[in-house]
Amino acid sequence: MESKYIVFDGMDGSGKGTQMELLKKKLPEVVFTREPGGTPFAEEIRNLVRDNPLAGQSTPLNNLLLFWAAREECMHNLVMPALKAGKHVFSDRGDSSTFAFQICGEEQGELMDFFMSLRKLVFAENSGRRQPDLYIVFDLPAEVARERALQDASRTKTHFDLRNIGYYERVRDGFQMFAGWWPVEFVDADRTPEEVHNSVMKILATKAILD
Ligand code: TYD
Repeated sequence: MESKYIVFDGMDGSGKGTQMELLKKKLPEVVFTREPGGTPFAEEIRNLVRDNPLAGQSTPLNNLLLFWAAREECMHNLVMPALKAGKHVFSDRGDSSTFAFQICGEEQGELMDFFMSLRKLVFAENSGRRQPDLYIVFDLPAEVARERALQDASRTKTHFDLRNIGYYERVRDGFQMFAGWWPVEFVDADRTPEEVHNSVMKILATKAILD
């Protein structure tokens, strides 16, 4: 079976983390990664953009550049080699996040051309790279997602989590817009983890990603 590159995405508070853990347990043969991160250097970029106390001061353009820098690193050193070795790669977030969070959430529509150019370079198929075959987006009302993100005691709140409801709404709309260009399957995330997981497994089976 041809190896596939699948991105899982959604708002903070969408329960994506729980779903990734369920998939990891069930699918030991799949290579799991995350964005920003996945390789030692990309994890350093993650520390910088997500956890550094100064990160909240970063401009939207700098955020966009840093997330694409982490993606380029992960694509080159982790995703591409794994796909070439015939393995499926499942990534926790991807360029769908940059589109939804930076272009839409941070209201930087003028960076769209730049986003498209970076996307062409990082996913350049003539160099053995690939764009994701499918995006699975965990969708739920913005207010439910924000409430969940703020209540979740198991994770450290980042400056991204703490943004206002308008930001969450723009991010949700951003994923819908993203689906106008690239292959996205939405999963209703306002249900129990088991129900959401069953929907994900059904999509993976329907798309012939898993037997
Ligand atoms: P994290 O707490 O790991 O989010 P989650 O566990 O929900 O995946 O932090 C990643 C944060 O970075 C999250 O708020 C989304 C944000 N982000 C962007 O703004 N743009 C991007 O391109 C990516 C990949 C993430």
